[in-house]
Amino acid sequence: MNILLLGSGGREHAFAWKISQSDLCQKLYIAPGNPGTALHGENVHISVNDFDAVEKLCTEKNISMVVVGPEDPLVNGIVDFFEQHESLKHIRVVGPSQKGALLEGSKAFAKEFMIKYGIPTAGYREFHSGNFEEGLQYIQHHSLPIVLKADGLAAGKGVVISQTTEEAIAEFTEMIQHDKFGKAGSKVVIEEFLTGIECSVFVLTDGKDYILLPSAKDYKRIGEGDTGLNTGGMGAISPVPFADEKFMKKVTDQIILPTIHGIENEGIGYKGFVFIGLISVDGNPFVIEYNCRMGDPETEVVLPRLENDLVDIFNKLHEGRLNDVICRHSPSTSATIMLVSKGYPEEYQKGYEITQLNDAAGSQVFHAGTKQTDDGRIVSNGGRVLAITSFGNTLKQALEMSILNAQKIQFEGKYFRQDIGWEFI
Ligand code: AMP
Ligand code: GLY
Repeated sequence: MNILLLGSGGREHAFAWKISQSDLCQKLYIAPGNPGTALHGENVHISVNDFDAVEKLCTEKNISMVVVGPEDPLVNGIVDFFEQHESLKHIRVVGPSQKGALLEGSKAFAKEFMIKYGIPTAGYREFHSGNFEEGLQYIQHHSLPIVLKADGLAAGKGVVISQTTEEAIAEFTEMIQHDKFGKAGSKVVIEEFLTGIECSVFVLTDGKDYILLPSAKDYKRIGEGDTGLNTGGMGAISPVPFADEKFMKKVTDQIILPTIHGIENEGIGYKGFVFIGLISVDGNPFVIEYNCRMGDPETEVVLPRLENDLVDIFNKLHEGRLNDVICRHSPSTSATIMLVSKGYPEEYQKGYEITQLNDAAGSQVFHAGTKQTDDGRIVSNGGRVLAITSFGNTLKQALEMSILNAQKIQFEGKYFRQDIGWEFI
């Protein structure tokens, strides 16, 4: 069958790489894609949020399956769009309905959902312009640090952890009264700070049954030792050493099963990924956030470890046969390192030529922010430029291979963290 993949980052390169290995995939199109995805299919220059252009493409190219990479089109209702159009109804879309995407698209919705279904999460209150004064009072009496979350999508920047009451009040005021995050911040969730170690769990569900993919941990801070500004993710590892059988049993019983029960009970259409961001507090899992898609750069370590045919899994997802899937994971450890542009996650320059790309033997290089010029050169085109994934019998081995290749590949202003997975080595 012909498959369309939406998105253009490292996650989508990893999806394209994996999907193209399936015998069930005749032709893969990626919109808009990047020079990495072009190695596995045909890039088409349309935006992921231009649903009319997506519809036209699906008809012209006889698409039977659409895999949605990023959250934006899901939160904008692409799955509902396909269901409502006669010409698109038959297409198998991997992703939740607009209501399901609210688990990521609205922190307030996600918190209400967790409370209703008894899913462990940090205690919270929700505020908006109507109860702003009450919010100020609430912050005054709250313990520190305190976590403020803009309700809507804010490109990964909507979470502020304040160490002082004054800073929290200033942030809260900026969000509600001065539209710091635009409409996304018109509602704010204030929650207690949880201390522990984070990891990510990935579930693929049809709202009734589910399969569990390998666990992963991403490293969000720009600096080594987890210091400095938050980024989209500087690297990731899989599996996560502390996410052992005992911990995962708690995650299954206390989080995954009630989440799927909640999705079913609320009548939410869901045929897609639930990416659960967790924090382990003294060995007990709490949900930090839900996402309605796979993670980036987590996908770049999770999919290489999955030995099943991904397209076959997506077919079973749509046929109500997920229980027939037996997930096979490589026992090796994978680690990915992001090469980023100097200045990221703040101001950075683009357009620097990338060389020695083909010298990265022993690693899989996934393109994130790259572009091909008219004369055929590959240049940097974003903050996160390339993800370098390697396997090892140990995390240390995997990491060393990725570092070796991170050093070989060259572009001006290249920066990467050498300590991905540091707390486990
Ligand atoms: P997000 O942008 O939602 O991925 O959140 C960014 C980061 O903020 C998370 O990865 C956590 O490290 C941190 N965080 C969010 N909520 C909490 C919380 N309640 N307690 C501690 N850390 C948190
Ligand atoms: N790496 C975190 C995310 O994809 O949201």
